[in-house]
Amino acid sequence: MSFLRNAAKLFNSVYLFTWDTCIALANLIAPNLKPGSVIPHGRPGAGGKWPEFVPPGKGDSRCCCPALNALANHGILPHDGRNIKFTEMTHAVQTSFNLSSTFSIFVPTFAANMLHRNYKTVRQIASNILIDIHSSQDKFDLADLNIHNGIEHDGSLLREDARFDPEQDKPSLPLITELFASATGKDAAGNLVFTHADLSRASGKRRTAARATNPDFTLNKSQKGFASGNCASLLLVFGGRVADLEPFLTEERIPEGFESRVLARWGLSLLVFNLNIFNIERAIKEEAVPTVMAQNETA
Ligand code: HEM
Ligand SMILES: *[C@@H]1O[C@H](CO)[C@@H](O)[C@H](O)[C@H]1NC(C)=O
Ligand SMILES: *[C@@H]1O[C@H](CO)[C@@H](O)[C@H](O)[C@H]1NC(C)=O
Repeated sequence: MSFLRNAAKLFNSVYLFTWDTCIALANLIAPNLKPGSVIPHGRPGAGGKWPEFVPPGKGDSRCCCPALNALANHGILPHDGRNIKFTEMTHAVQTSFNLSSTFSIFVPTFAANMLHRNYKTVRQIASNILIDIHSSQDKFDLADLNIHNGIEHDGSLLREDARFDPEQDKPSLPLITELFASATGKDAAGNLVFTHADLSRASGKRRTAARATNPDFTLNKSQKGFASGNCASLLLVFGGRVADLEPFLTEERIPEGFESRVLARWGLSLLVFNLNIFNIERAIKEEAVPTVMAQNETA
């Protein structure tokens, strides 16, 4: 049974990455979407009109991800952040930010595996004898994603490390202020934006500080990939634009008029995303740290 399950998983990932490459190539050939036409009519955010922002109240579940929290704050995911289907998360991120279908399936599947739950709903797998229906759980609360060293890791740009902030569900304003101070770019319209180099520099600084102050600090290769992936999402989905990122990162609110800067016809592919991760991670330099802390180095 577990052999079949692993074989099915391997098949799924080979299939997903092959399909993703096709999407990336097709995006290269097809003309880009026109700004203003990224979100289809009738979907939240079409024409820059987002459903009302309601900050989280008592008992609402929130997590370490600003994007998922923002979707819940606008009611695109359930406002209480509870009992969310993995497939519902896929649909919400795909249509709100124009991520490719492959990207939108990959990350929620990773999250489902991390939580030892099923990505697909019980209905969807009912006919699939490979999976034991009795143990199936296909939903999660946002706070479930906060498991330390699952996807959540030390040295984040927006949250204190889990040792100092075990909840992980609210932004750290001092860290965010520091992050914004590192933006140096200008886009074609003259707006202040983060560049790849800005985010590499900010990440290097943050990792150095976290390593020096947190005795539990760990950050291995996969976690570095997630960390630079988060930076890549700020560059690709927001064009690095500081005016949009201020409400998004500090209040977890999508500003009026916001539209994803992903103009690729079939959405942001994992391939393009990974190339950006590689470029950001490659340029991150950590300063030398006192040797006591260096023994926590895991990568
Ligand atoms: C598709 C499902 C998604 C899942 C399961 C997910 C999950 C997570 C998790 C667990 C973290 C915490 C990592 C850390 O410790 O820093 C995180 C952080 C982050 N996520 Fe997401 N995320 C998703 C989609 C997105 C999208 C679509 C965006 C951008 C539009 C995004 C932007 C970010 C950013 C910027 C951070 C960095 C937080 C920090 O540095 O403190 N995420 N996400
Ligand atoms: C990206 O946006 C375009 C335009 O609205 C849409 O046709 C396409 O389906 C979107 N991509 C995905 C993967 O949802
Ligand atoms: C990094 O650490 C996490 C959590 O301990 C683990 O699941 C993952 O496999 C590790 N990755 C690498 C490349 O060591």
